[in-house]
Amino acid sequence: MCGIIGYAGSHETVPVLLDGLRRLEYRGYDSAGVAVAGDDEIRILRAAGKLANLEERAYGCPLRGTLGIGHTRWATHGAPTEANAHPQTDSGGRVAVVHNGILENYATLRHELLSAGTALASDTDTELIAQLLGSREGPLLERVLGVLPRLEGQYAVVALSQDDPGTLVAFRNGPPLVIGLGADENLVASDVTALVQRTRRVIFLENGDVARISRDGVTIVAGDGQVVQRPVEELDWDPGRAEKSGYRHFMLKEICEQPDALRNTVVAYLDAERQGVNLDGLGFDPRRIAAVRKVQLVACGTSWHACLVGKFLIEQLAQLPVDVDYASEYRYRSPLVGGETLVVGVSQSGETADTLAAMELARDAGAPLGTICNVRGSSAWRLAEARLLTQAGPEVGVASTKAFTTQLVALLLVALALRRTRGLATEGDRDLVTALQRLPLAVEQALAAPDEVFRRGVELVSEHEDSLFLGRGILYPIALEGALKLKEISYLHAEGYPAGEMKHGPIALVQEGFPVVALATQTATRDKLLGNLMEVRSRGASLIAVSEPDAAEVARLVDLVLPVPPVQHLLQPVVAVVPLQLLAYHVAVELGLDVDQPRNLAKSVTVE
Ligand code: AGP
Repeated sequence: MCGIIGYAGSHETVPVLLDGLRRLEYRGYDSAGVAVAGDDEIRILRAAGKLANLEERAYGCPLRGTLGIGHTRWATHGAPTEANAHPQTDSGGRVAVVHNGILENYATLRHELLSAGTALASDTDTELIAQLLGSREGPLLERVLGVLPRLEGQYAVVALSQDDPGTLVAFRNGPPLVIGLGADENLVASDVTALVQRTRRVIFLENGDVARISRDGVTIVAGDGQVVQRPVEELDWDPGRAEKSGYRHFMLKEICEQPDALRNTVVAYLDAERQGVNLDGLGFDPRRIAAVRKVQLVACGTSWHACLVGKFLIEQLAQLPVDVDYASEYRYRSPLVGGETLVVGVSQSGETADTLAAMELARDAGAPLGTICNVRGSSAWRLAEARLLTQAGPEVGVASTKAFTTQLVALLLVALALRRTRGLATEGDRDLVTALQRLPLAVEQALAAPDEVFRRGVELVSEHEDSLFLGRGILYPIALEGALKLKEISYLHAEGYPAGEMKHGPIALVQEGFPVVALATQTATRDKLLGNLMEVRSRGASLIAVSEPDAAEVARLVDLVLPVPPVQHLLQPVVAVVPLQLLAYHVAVELGLDVDQPRNLAKSVTVE
């Protein structure tokens, strides 16, 4: 969850580290720090709070040197104080370490070090790594290989030592690390967003890899010290897409980028000639797919909501039963999975620890394993045998938006491909494909809703501590997603519920002015939904409905319509979520909150 960067090159390292940390700050923002190898000592600068605090200190106290490491933290062990910020050092100050992850044998190691008389300066598990490295002799790589058997848990670590000038050593077991190969410089970071400004040539480290990185080169060894070769990959990310480009927040920019993100995702997998979907070449063995009898979708958070929509799509179009699991539950519930079960891990980052563990479980059980993922080369990408890349581009705002809608489209593409494999495709499918091609335009229309609509929405929602989001059928997951968006960036409690279930409990919450947000687009169950809305209206609720603007029966009943254009039923989730993203955004802005970096959250959840 934390952001890591390391630099070995010919430039002053602090500006490079701070620039990298700025791009990684979405991974964690409790505290930050840098360490620079000076001529005769490692110099450290750390600050609690946002990166801006560290930057301020860096102006007042320039550290000079061309080798350094930096970190932005999402606290696990120890409060987000300066003392617990990374880099952490050994007692002698000869080794400095940045770390992302959790050491599970923290208590044992801490006890051992304290019993041996080591004075610990922090509450972190990271300091224990620095102390263990500092207690050994020799080149840093050798020390790391010696210490590795003592570390249990998940970690991505970059270390430097005053005794081994010009060298960084990076090693991982769980959270990702990627090396950037530059001109007269090499870097390492927890994700590519920190590197693309300087280089597009990268190496993704595998679990168990230990990399020695200097200005002149990179050597990677396995835990037994044997040199291993890892492919050099060329990134196709445009660094400009990870900038705000004049928008006030990344989240708003990313909401507005959805038409392009969807267009790119559809175009990438559409076979224009056959007017169908072409997922050939994704990596699956067709015989394995022909044998599939059920599907399991595993994910967390917003990606899990996409999977709930995916269940409707795959069951309807491919006539296969679909289970949707929280990855954190799946991995511990002994799921019934084997060669006849297609398992798909859905993840924006491709680095979510629970999703990866669930995917590993499925792979070990012999299931054909796919991923829908937004980051080429990520851990999910490398774990799966078949990969569908959502073409959302870098998503920086912690609240996922464009990744979500591209996941919905990706799941539809998978459903259509399975439909064809199972011999269910008909001429009528062309209409759906055509509607899919027009979908970006519909999203553009949804984005064009006038500002006053959202001003009114903010009035209705922002003064209440709680609200209810209701939907039915394929739009029920969108109610969950709308509620999650509001919760995570505005800190107002919101609950998503199937509208038909509302009478079985949540209706007790309703009182005068209580906001109820409903997904009321044209579906076979709209009348039933309107019936549910009347029930809450008669108890004093304020009603907001996502609906086509010309639906008079909806407009008559509610206080506010969030307008969306009419689209084919299976595509409605993609369009209907847009005004809910915007509503959450405007509420958070009105409340003066940090939209892109909401409290306690991190973009990429790389620990369980
Ligand atoms: C989305 O707004 C969230 N911040 C979060 O729920 C996220 O979707 C979840 O952590 C899963 O992430 P992933 O898609 O990168 O696996």
